[in-house]
Amino acid sequence: MFSILLSIGLIFYGFPVSESLDVIALKKAIETKNENGIINILCYRPNFQRKFIMSTYFYKYRKDLHTELENILSSHFANLILNLIKDPAEYDAMEIERISDYHFTMDPEKWGAAEILVLRTHQEIEEMKKIYNAGKFMNVIKNVDRTYGLLTDLVRNKQKSESSKDLNKTSAQIDAEKLCEAGYNFFDEDVFVEVFTTNNLEQLKLIFEKFPDTKCKTTIEELIEKKFSNTALASFKTVAQISNDRIGYFADRLKHVITGCWIVNSFYEDLTRIIITRSEIDLRAIQKEFDRRDGDDALVKLIQKKTSGSYRDALLALIKGNQSKKIIS
Ligand SMILES: *[C@@H]1O[C@H](CO)[C@@H](O)[C@H](O)[C@H]1NC(C)=O
Ligand SMILES: *[C@@H]1O[C@H](CO)[C@@H](O)[C@H](O)[C@H]1NC(C)=O
Repeated sequence: MFSILLSIGLIFYGFPVSESLDVIALKKAIETKNENGIINILCYRPNFQRKFIMSTYFYKYRKDLHTELENILSSHFANLILNLIKDPAEYDAMEIERISDYHFTMDPEKWGAAEILVLRTHQEIEEMKKIYNAGKFMNVIKNVDRTYGLLTDLVRNKQKSESSKDLNKTSAQIDAEKLCEAGYNFFDEDVFVEVFTTNNLEQLKLIFEKFPDTKCKTTIEELIEKKFSNTALASFKTVAQISNDRIGYFADRLKHVITGCWIVNSFYEDLTRIIITRSEIDLRAIQKEFDRRDGDDALVKLIQKKTSGSYRDALLALIKGNQSKKIIS
C-alpha cells in the first residue's frame, strides 16, 4: 500500500527523488545536525509530500520526526521547521490561539486571526475544530473578537457564504447601500457583521466596488477606519483588504512584519506563518507584487537584511521552492 502511495507521489510530481531517499538524507542531516540538509529537503517539498516523508521516517526508523527535529533545533528556525511539518489545520488553530493571547495593547496587531479565518474554507475550519475540540476553538475565537463578533460569525456563516457561487450585482448594490446606511447616521455594527460574513470574497469585492457610489462617497476601508477601533478595526479591515486585493494585502503584511519591531516575537511568528501558509498557494504572486513595488528582488533582499542564520535560509528556500520548475505539477 505504502509503496503504491509513494509511486503515486512520484508520478504526480515527476521527481527524481523519492520520499525514501529524502528520508535517508534527512536522517543523516539530523544525526550530523546539518541544518542546511534539513532545509534542502523540507523547505523544497510541498505539504503532502512532507506528510509522506514523516510517515516514511516513522516506518523506517520508528522515530517521530517532529521529536527528532525538536531535540536538535532551536529558536526561530526550530519554530519554522516544526510548523512546516504540522498538519495545516493544527497550525492554523494554534496560530489563532497564539494571536488570541496577545496583550491587549497589541490589539491592532490581531489581523492574523481574520486573515486565517477569512481565507479558509468551511471544511478547513471544520478540521481545525476537530483538532482543537469545537467548544475550545470557538472560545479562542471569541477571545480574539470581544467586540461585535465578526470572527465568530465568519466561522458560523462560512458554509452559507460558500453556498452561493454566482456573483449577484443586484444584491451587491443593495448590500453596499445597506452598509452605507448602517455607517452613516447611527452606527449599526450588526449590519456590517452580517454583510461581511454571509458573502463570499468575490461577492464582497463586488459590494465594495459599488460602495463609493453610495451616498457615503468613500471607500469601505475609509469608513471602517472612521467607525471601528482596535481589534474590530483590524478584523474588518483585513476582510475588506483581502476581498479587494489579496495579493496586495499580503505584500503589505510582509513589508510590515519584516520591517516591524523585531523585539516583539509575534513578528517572527507572523512572518513564518505568512511564508509557510502562502507558499503553496500564491507566494510567487505575492513576491512579484512586492518586487514590483520595491524593486528587483526586493523581498529576498529585505529578508536577507533583516533575518539571519538558518531561519533566513529556510525562509528564502520556501520562497525559492515555489519557483522551482521541477516541482510544479
Ligand atoms: C440577486 O439578488 C437579488 C436581491 O437580493 C434577488 O432578488 C435575486 O433573486 C438574486 N438573483 C439571483 C440570480 O440569485
Ligand atoms: C508553488 O506555488 C504554486 C501556486 O502558485 C503551487 O501550485 C505549488 O504547489 C507551489 N510549489 C511548492 C513546492 O510549494
